[in-house]
Amino acid sequence: DRTLKIAPSILSADFADFGREIRAIEDQGADWVHVDVMDGHFVPNLTFGPPAVKAFRPHVKTVMDVHLMIAPVDPFIAAYAEAGADVITAHFEAGPHPHRTLQAIRAAGCKAGLALNPGTPAASVEYLLDMVDLVCVMTVNPGFGGQKFIHSQVDKIKQLRRMIGTRPVHIEIDGGVDPTTAPLVADAGADVLVAGSAVFKGGSVDTPQVYGQNIRAI
Ligand code: DX5
Ligand code: ZN
Repeated sequence: DRTLKIAPSILSADFADFGREIRAIEDQGADWVHVDVMDGHFVPNLTFGPPAVKAFRPHVKTVMDVHLMIAPVDPFIAAYAEAGADVITAHFEAGPHPHRTLQAIRAAGCKAGLALNPGTPAASVEYLLDMVDLVCVMTVNPGFGGQKFIHSQVDKIKQLRRMIGTRPVHIEIDGGVDPTTAPLVADAGADVLVAGSAVFKGGSVDTPQVYGQNIRAI
């Protein structure tokens, strides 16, 4: 279905309180929970190994959407699948064999996503479209929350939506999504919006209704 889904990124949550943060965003209307995995090599930041993701699992009632910003990625797919990911998204740029990576994600029992950095053209996924359940368009350079939306990516979203045609493939947008940029990407054909700072700003587990207001404002 093409109804708009909001996937808050817990990169912007309180790192000492993930269980309650996940419960708070889901109670306040999050459709998916987005988990940003960074390795300090593919991107200049470090976050969650498989044991951390496994600890999140029992708190997630919706969909655990795991975004792997790691290279190499293939050696870690099984571990993140076993940790309980529903969707695993790997980067096109993470290695020379994205087709093999996508096969491995599906073989591990997960929905397969492919993420494109801002410099990577839409055409790079053309021959992989039957292998993916989701294409993630990075609208910032991956590595950090709270960066500025890169407007040149809106045209890439339109190209991808045309290329995908009638296939059941989600287009997810990641980076700088807020009430101003969300309508632009939704109009271009995106149906899953990741948002970190725009969801968590101003709220906390003690004031979760702020998360709800922020989600509805997107
Ligand atoms: C960036 C991450 C994003 C990021 C989004 O590397 O993949 O998920 O946390 O954060 P905001 O919404 O703050 O740009
Ligand atoms: Zn992400």
